[in-house]
Amino acid sequence: MRFQDKSVIITGGGGKIGKAYALGFAKEGAKVALPDIASADPVVKAIRDMGGTAISMACDVSDEKSVKSMVDEVARQFGGVDVLVNNAAYFMNVKKSPFWEMEVDEFDKAMAVNVRGSWLCAKAAFPYMKKQGKGKIINISSGTALNGGQNYIHYVTSKGALIAMTRAMAREVGDYNICVNTVCPGFVVTEGRQVDPAFSANRIANRALKRVQVENDLVGTVLFLASPESDFMTGQLLNVDGGAHFVG
Ligand SMILES: NC(=O)c1ccc[n+]([C@@H]2O[C@H](COP(=O)([O-])OP(=O)(O)OC[C@H]3O[C@@H](n4cnc5c(N)ncnc54)[C@H](O)[C@@H]3O)[C@@H](O)[C@H]2O)c1
Repeated sequence: MRFQDKSVIITGGGGKIGKAYALGFAKEGAKVALPDIASADPVVKAIRDMGGTAISMACDVSDEKSVKSMVDEVARQFGGVDVLVNNAAYFMNVKKSPFWEMEVDEFDKAMAVNVRGSWLCAKAAFPYMKKQGKGKIINISSGTALNGGQNYIHYVTSKGALIAMTRAMAREVGDYNICVNTVCPGFVVTEGRQVDPAFSANRIANRALKRVQVENDLVGTVLFLASPESDFMTGQLLNVDGGAHFVG
């Protein structure tokens, strides 16, 4: 029970991988907050059914007021903020096109949710972590930032920005004993995701570990970065993709 009574925020907690993180933290005793523009109620129910503590919250991470009231409410209900997982993303519904055809609004949306949203959540959580004298922030990037995915320049760029943002934040908050790290998931075939079998087979062939990546493959790494076991690690990127890319 590494996270007994710890207060953990997982943005986009109503989504597929967010649910896996939420269950992982809850099983180890955390009180889990799941802000999302979509409903996280089924995840909350699953956690409460197993005797855990979880709340869903309507929140748009790209909106500062929405984020601040979400974080303040989590701190009020759970007594602080120990861990922030910046997992929410404009991702599944992105409009794909070559960069020279992409509309400005579409580009800006990815930046607003994925980059500004992660910064705003960290900005709102920081005062609580500073007061506690410790904290963990985990930014969820993507392997696509390592290899450059085609036809969604806005998403790829936003995920690359999170790697740089992690490093800048880590430098600024080290004096407060707050660790900031990045996790890069590979191509995850999440529950119900429709994938082209040829595309999926190609992804598998490019890995050292030749199998499909699923949500739970990420949970151990995120929990490790949130736990005291990683207390002397900050500004780092942990790539969890079965050995598709070798970083470092
Ligand atoms: N699935 C993959 O293959 C993969 C690969 C690499 C990285 N990732 C990253 O992992 C994370 C989770 O991905 P997923 O596959 O679970 O996707 P998902 O779409 O199931 O989850 C994303 C969640 O973010 C929420 N969200 C979107 N905009 C929001 C906003 N403005 N405010 C609050 N919440 C918002 C969505 O409602 C959704 O519940 C994302 O950051 C994604 O970029 C996923």
